[in-house]
Amino acid sequence: MAQETNTAELQQDASSGELFLPTKHVLDKAIVTDFDALRERANQNPEAFWEEQARDLEWFSTWNTVKTWQPEIPKVEWFVGATCNITVNALDRHVKNGRGDKTAYRYIPEEGAEQPSSVSYKELLERVNRIANGLKSLGVIEGDRVTIYMALTPDLPAAMLACARLGAIHCVVYAGFSAPALKQRIEDSGSKVVISSDYGWRRGKKVDLAAIVKDATDGIACIEKQIIQQRGDAPLPEGALSLDELCAAQASECEPAVLSSEAPLFYLYTSGTTGKPKGICHVHGGYGVGTSYTQRIAFDLNEDDIYFCSADPGWITGHSYVVYGPLINGATVVLGEGALDFPDAGRWWKMVEEQKITIFYSTPTAIRALMRFGDEFPAKYDLSSLRILGSVGEPINPEAWLWFYKNIGHENCALIDTWWQTETGQFLISTVPSYPTKPGSPGKPYPGITAKVVNSQGEEVPRNEQGFLVIDSQWPAMMRTIFGDHERYAGYWQQIPGYYSVGDAAKMDEDGYIRVIGRTDDVMNVSGYRIGTAEVESALVSHPAVAESAVIGKPDPLKGESIKAFVILRVGFEASDDLAAALKKHVRVELSPIAMPGEIEFVPSLPKTRSGKIMRRVLKAKELGTATGDISTLED
Ligand code: WT7
Repeated sequence: MAQETNTAELQQDASSGELFLPTKHVLDKAIVTDFDALRERANQNPEAFWEEQARDLEWFSTWNTVKTWQPEIPKVEWFVGATCNITVNALDRHVKNGRGDKTAYRYIPEEGAEQPSSVSYKELLERVNRIANGLKSLGVIEGDRVTIYMALTPDLPAAMLACARLGAIHCVVYAGFSAPALKQRIEDSGSKVVISSDYGWRRGKKVDLAAIVKDATDGIACIEKQIIQQRGDAPLPEGALSLDELCAAQASECEPAVLSSEAPLFYLYTSGTTGKPKGICHVHGGYGVGTSYTQRIAFDLNEDDIYFCSADPGWITGHSYVVYGPLINGATVVLGEGALDFPDAGRWWKMVEEQKITIFYSTPTAIRALMRFGDEFPAKYDLSSLRILGSVGEPINPEAWLWFYKNIGHENCALIDTWWQTETGQFLISTVPSYPTKPGSPGKPYPGITAKVVNSQGEEVPRNEQGFLVIDSQWPAMMRTIFGDHERYAGYWQQIPGYYSVGDAAKMDEDGYIRVIGRTDDVMNVSGYRIGTAEVESALVSHPAVAESAVIGKPDPLKGESIKAFVILRVGFEASDDLAAALKKHVRVELSPIAMPGEIEFVPSLPKTRSGKIMRRVLKAKELGTATGDISTLED
């Protein structure tokens, strides 16, 4: 059903929670035409449903049991007894089926940097094989960890896939993290090899990644070798190998390791409620099934689509929906290195026009930022190739939703808001393009997923009332453990008995659409990036002037949340603007620019429980002028 609306009506729709229906443009390419019927069928027998999806992929040998689930450990396994290698599905299968010349990645550099380039499936497979053989020649074997800290070029996914080819476990660290944060992740994973780029581009400047790796690996015992993708002609650091030279010496064929479907594919570090990031573990079999299936149905990914996702592979969105999901589907993926507003805020829209992008997947923060630059930027470009828009990472406010829908989608594209997490690996709550959407709601549970909004006892709350979002099922791409800390993994099922607690507050409306309000734990969501309050606090207390600190997230119109830190100084230090600036810089250097507090307030004391735990909730309520809630455990 075509929809004719103007902005005034759209605004009204947003506040009344009205439905937006797909246009013919979208419906013509629908893969799932009856989302409700599909969910119903899947939920009657989720295992049979996922087994059906798994049959679309190639396995060396198939499973004897679809799923086992032991909640008391907890331990989940999918496609038990099967053997596979995710790279066979991402690469070999397409080459074998005559699609080797199809473009896998189109690389779009920052303006004025390198030249755009494309890599076909066949070329990508060869590159992956050479890197894999190179890693093998360095002694990397199945189960070894390899840290990847690279700029966004096709060699980043190639390095990931090369590890997977051998059954080695990749640990990608986003190249915006600082040396101490990189070091912590290398050490926790016990990586043997680190692969980095010499530099990346950001707003016309080279970011010296090799120097950060040098600082991070200084005195680290586990690292045996450093490999560098050389984009420039600076000499290699002592002992490092050039990625190109390593590849040149290798054969372009490399047999994929025959792995258990439950063999770890990667550890990806994400923030939790302590200062220590969690290495979320995903595996070859179920992860490949879950990501590729959800990618296909959420975006109606057809053979001729040109897909762009603005996430860096350093985050889960990049792992699942820039690398594995699209490649398993044989899609053409556009990679854009650098900032969204360089040389100006028309960068992405220019890319849409030039590359004829059909599917555009980004974040609310990016949309809000681009919205502020004004309507004239998108208006300058031909965006008529677009059919599907996607959003992820944080709640999208109806205003940004409508701007995206109207100014980018020209009211003729489906806007898919995907709710999921590093831990879930794949989309769990969203819509499909043929299904009506509501601005500000990701939608409904995906086929095979049961989501509920409950109180702390696990009882469902009435419709439109706020509660905890929980998941009542298992799915193929769910995390298998937290590397080195299975107890922390078990914690997800202990908060509300019987359920997987996601850590978000939500409401379900009368039509079954879920609205996500935000995190309920000590995790912040800044520009869609997940940052633990404890991580920022521990970075702050590592500064000689800081005795104690407490960090909260404050609502921010652009970033979703901004960071405010309360700091108690050590004796002998005086509060000043200079010191506040120095502390901000310290967090930037210790953790990352994303984690830098926007505001620092020096305080004489912090609200604590009698057991000494800082009550951030109380600080936040005071800051925002809202009710403090239960403060019976407050010390004074
Ligand atoms: C948390 C997970 C999954 C990729 C990016 C973030 C928030 C994620 C949405 C959405 C509202 C969202 C939640 C979630 N979140 N997507 N569509 N609407 N909130 O992954 O870093 O693991 O963070 O991001 O709070 O729990 P992540």
